[in-house]
Amino acid sequence: MRSTTEDVSNIPHGGKLIQRQVNCEERDMFLQIIGNLKTITLNRWHVSDLELIANGGFSPLIGFMGKSDYTRVVEEMRLEDGTIWSIPITLDVEQTQAETLEIGEQIALVGEDNEVYGVLDLTEKFHYEKEKEAKLVYGTTDPEHPGVRKVYEKGEVYVAGPIRLLQKKSNNPFANYQLDPVETRQLFKDLGWKTIVGFQTRNPVHRAHEYIQKCALESVDGLLLNPLVGETKSDDISPAIRMKSYEVILDKYFPPDRTRLVIYPAAMRYAGPREAILHAIVRKNYGCTHFIVGRDHAGVGDFYGTYEAQELIRQYEAELGIQIFAFEHAFYCTTCENMATKKTCPHDKTYHVHLSGTKVREKLRNGEHLPKEFSRPEVAKVLIEGLRQR
Ligand code: ADX
Repeated sequence: MRSTTEDVSNIPHGGKLIQRQVNCEERDMFLQIIGNLKTITLNRWHVSDLELIANGGFSPLIGFMGKSDYTRVVEEMRLEDGTIWSIPITLDVEQTQAETLEIGEQIALVGEDNEVYGVLDLTEKFHYEKEKEAKLVYGTTDPEHPGVRKVYEKGEVYVAGPIRLLQKKSNNPFANYQLDPVETRQLFKDLGWKTIVGFQTRNPVHRAHEYIQKCALESVDGLLLNPLVGETKSDDISPAIRMKSYEVILDKYFPPDRTRLVIYPAAMRYAGPREAILHAIVRKNYGCTHFIVGRDHAGVGDFYGTYEAQELIRQYEAELGIQIFAFEHAFYCTTCENMATKKTCPHDKTYHVHLSGTKVREKLRNGEHLPKEFSRPEVAKVLIEGLRQR
């Protein structure tokens, strides 16, 4: 483990924290012209991406990707200028709509709720190959993969250009935990944290998560628990239930002066190794100096090897400018009477308590408690109650 005194930088990716949110005056100006603009309807993914471009989470992007950035990202995991970037951030429309849009136009970006979220300065429209994107980004063309399925459902044309954000989603149920990168950076300064480990999750914090978070926290100043709350696949536990579970576990088991809960508004791609790199970049932009990548990070089903994400991100760690805490598969060992990994536990796996995601969901649906070696009872209680109320 590295020590807290190590010299670490937290320069935003690409050197500068992007800010594409309008101020009040600019917003009034845009609202006056918005009725005259053509519109593109954004789905929930697009709204998440728009927010992350605008708040600097996706720095150095200033808009939806054009063809040269897109192609290089898909083929080489780099933006056109060579900056490492692993997942295309794109806005798709149907061919018929693309034909009505003129390069150079300003276009209103409207959500499915009819709210105007932003404007796009249209600089490019281009066709792309879905199977190629699926194969290179997700490592598979199998439509059973939830990220690949999303690619196949997209319109045939990508529209690109710089964006401005007019407003974030209203009625955000997690507004108390919503901070932009510029705000988390200030928060870390105020707290006096120099080294901060970011933790991505789309699940409740179970004992294995807690173990790796705390192992990391032993060598840095603070932990940013940064759960993804954008769109996930339908059988994942909803963000509303998860947020409650985070509150109870932080309240009871984490030192309040060394942990902060902030939402990550992105949609989940399930792109495994490539998404681990995106996740690290974003956390770097939020001001983290370290990032945790455990077993099968951002994976789904059997699409990726257990340590494939770690292997890929390791190759780019120096260039990424954020230090990776890689953890092996963690479990509770009934003989050690401790959380451990195979690096620290000599016992056979019959002594290890492990439940698959499917098994956990099945137990919770049946109202069965999870073993305390797997999940804190307070967390299990929130999950059972939450799922019962749905
Ligand atoms: S993810 O899709 O967001 O990666 P999840 O919320 O389950 O899924 O994981 C959050 C982080 O914890 C990831 O870095 C993942 O690799 C790690 N992780 C999850 N379970 C374990 C485990 N049992 N042992 C080690 N790391 C784990």
